[in-house]
Amino acid sequence: MQVEILSTQGSKSLATLKNVLPSTSVRELKARLHAECKRLPPCRQSLRLEPKGKSLGDDDTLSSLNVRADCRLYVKDLGPQIGWKTVFLAEYAGPLFVYLWLYQRPWLFYGEGANTVPPHQVVHIAAVCWAVHYAKRLLETLFVHRFSHATMPLFNLFKNCSYYWLFTAYVAYHVNHPLYTPPRTMQIYCGLAGFILCELGNLSIHVTLRNLRPAGTSVRKVPVATSNPFTSLFNWVSCPNYTYEVGSWLSFTIMTQCLPAGLFTLAGLYQMAVWALGKHRAYKKEFPNYPRNRKAILPFIL
Ligand SMILES: NC(=O)c1ccc[n+]([C@@H]2O[C@H](COP(=O)([O-])OP(=O)(O)OC[C@H]3O[C@@H](n4cnc5c(N)ncnc54)[C@H](OP(=O)(O)O)[C@@H]3O)[C@@H](O)[C@H]2O)c1
Repeated sequence: MQVEILSTQGSKSLATLKNVLPSTSVRELKARLHAECKRLPPCRQSLRLEPKGKSLGDDDTLSSLNVRADCRLYVKDLGPQIGWKTVFLAEYAGPLFVYLWLYQRPWLFYGEGANTVPPHQVVHIAAVCWAVHYAKRLLETLFVHRFSHATMPLFNLFKNCSYYWLFTAYVAYHVNHPLYTPPRTMQIYCGLAGFILCELGNLSIHVTLRNLRPAGTSVRKVPVATSNPFTSLFNWVSCPNYTYEVGSWLSFTIMTQCLPAGLFTLAGLYQMAVWALGKHRAYKKEFPNYPRNRKAILPFIL
């Protein structure tokens, strides 16, 4: 059979692929389209059955999509792409360096003589927490996560880096300021304890998600609690890694009693709640027996 591929913009015909078999996968169709249309490498293509339809998975075959005769498919150009890992590494390396730079109270931000005021102990603790969090994320990106997508639109690099780098500068500027006033010792250590627990929880969830997916695949399964007690949060929410991440920043805010840290926590909660609701909906749609008592990110609430 033959498959004509049209652009979703203007329905212009880009190629007609001949001698296509029902067992041909979307991945193979993308490679064949690229051979005919050099400006569209496979990572830039989103193939669809309808111009505004959902993107087809690379492992889908024409027969699994019920396409058995000559047909038309549509391709959306996703624009220039960049490696998923590259974006993550850039967005997490920035906060590490920016925070540690401001921790040294550079004259550029605080003027000459800022270092004559000795920092409070919580300022040192906060710098260690911030550095450990982003070092952990860098290491997880390299050695733990098994991403299903190799690339994402190039624009995300600028969007994500701006968010993380600028927020880091905003928080670090205030916590490291010579006029910063620390909270009481008890509050500092309660915040620190919460931060450590949530970081361990977040790591535990990432390891559990990794173990759900065999290496080199994009398999998705229903995550469940394991023998690690931190993972029991899977009994209550679909994205406990986000719950723990919010917990870490809430604890950091309590520990430093710093308003910019609180705003960073709220911004993160908003973004992760949007993603968690989307992932929760996708789980319920994909797995009919998905546990009913789970919420998306906040147990019993959201
Ligand atoms: N502070 C903030 O504003 C903020 C915002 C977002 C994230 N973060 C942090 O960054 C971390 C990673 O974020 P993320 O959005 O990439 O997390 P995520 O979507 O939960 O994914 C983490 C990893 O697990 C895989 N995965 C997820 N569900 C799976 C399933 N059911 N079966 C198999 N594999 C599965 C993902 O693969 P796929 O490639 O298939 O998704 C990805 O490799 C978060 O946990 C959080 O700590 C922070």
